[in-house]
Amino acid sequence: MASVSMESVSKSFGTHKVIQDVNLAIKDGEFVVFVGPSGCGKSTLLRIVAGLISASSGTVRIGGDDVTDVPAAKRGVAFVFQSYALYPHMTVARNIGFALETMGIKRDAIARKVETVARMLKVDHLLQRRPRELSGGQRQRVAIGRALVRQPDIFLFDEPLSNLDADLRMEMRMEIARLHEDLRTTMIYVTHDQSEAMTLADRIVVLNHGRVEQIGTPSELYHRPDNRFVAGFIGSPRMNFLPVKAGADDRGEGVLGPGGLWLPRVANLAAPAEIGVRPEALRIVPAGTGRFDCVLERVEDLGHEHFAYCRIAGGPIWVIRLAASPEQSLIGKDVALSFEDHSIFFFAADGERIAVPSDETDARRAIR
Ligand SMILES: Nc1ncnc2c1ncn2[C@@H]1O[C@H](COP(=O)(O)OP(=O)(O)OP(=O)(O)O)[C@@H](O)[C@H]1O
Ligand SMILES: [Mg+2]
Repeated sequence: MASVSMESVSKSFGTHKVIQDVNLAIKDGEFVVFVGPSGCGKSTLLRIVAGLISASSGTVRIGGDDVTDVPAAKRGVAFVFQSYALYPHMTVARNIGFALETMGIKRDAIARKVETVARMLKVDHLLQRRPRELSGGQRQRVAIGRALVRQPDIFLFDEPLSNLDADLRMEMRMEIARLHEDLRTTMIYVTHDQSEAMTLADRIVVLNHGRVEQIGTPSELYHRPDNRFVAGFIGSPRMNFLPVKAGADDRGEGVLGPGGLWLPRVANLAAPAEIGVRPEALRIVPAGTGRFDCVLERVEDLGHEHFAYCRIAGGPIWVIRLAASPEQSLIGKDVALSFEDHSIFFFAADGERIAVPSDETDARRAIR
């Protein structure tokens, strides 16, 4: 087992700065997920940890030792890729044990290890098959088995489940979580799927344009995002945003926005540029009785939940997540949205979240 740390790590390809001054410390045995949009540098950062590519500047440490110039094979890491890259002509057993063969380990010792790993991953009945005779999920298990058999100090996963269908993804996700509980090996897992990140991670590193936007537990990122980017990235459907400004109308000094929005001014709230409210914090109420009015344009029925889409005059469309469908007769009509003070997030023009006093309660709720 091993900790991983990065100090001021940057990486450029030519003049293109792909990773910018990343600092992070991953504890021994921790499950950390790198998440962010396509092209933000997740795979590059993971490959820098693995030693598959070298950083342009900065230091990488594993277990406290500087490994910045240590080759991949000597770092004690095992990598599981999105494309399983199994050897097509080898049986499952040989695919799993091949790394041990190249290390010169004796055949019966390899067979025992392969057997143990295969049982753990429930592919022990498939050992004599070739990869083409396996389903996608079985192939993925073999790829994980190949990494497992080496008993690495650190597991690195790069979108290992993205080629699987939704059911299988869920199943494999649970198996990876169980694997971590059993082994307690440090794991770093890359995905662009925030729900995968939320369900697997002890801590999540949110990346954007090669920079770390925030590092925190799933609950911290959901309840106390540092900025608009993290607020919008974590949560599904994503947080709704609305441009606002400080001002006054006949209701007094406050925060004003489209649809007749007026919020009482909070003590330390200087120059808010946007508010954000999550879809699950919204309720649809009769026009004129909520925070602001809008038109209920459309409802999607997913069976166990419903998404309502409301257009705000002079503003964006907001999504509302509901357990029960609103009345069909309301579609196309004026309604209003209602939400509690503590579910409002405020953002400054630079995207940083403005902390308000109710955060204290939210923080306590997040920890509980
Ligand atoms: N070998 C390379 N040479 C030049 N540019 C590269 C190279 N590898 C990656 N890049 C660029 O670096 C940026 C980050 O790539 P990276 O693969 O790390 O993104 P990612 O977050 O893993 O994206 P995805 O979710 O699509 O896999 C991208 O703009 C990519 O085009
Ligand atoms: Mg990638």
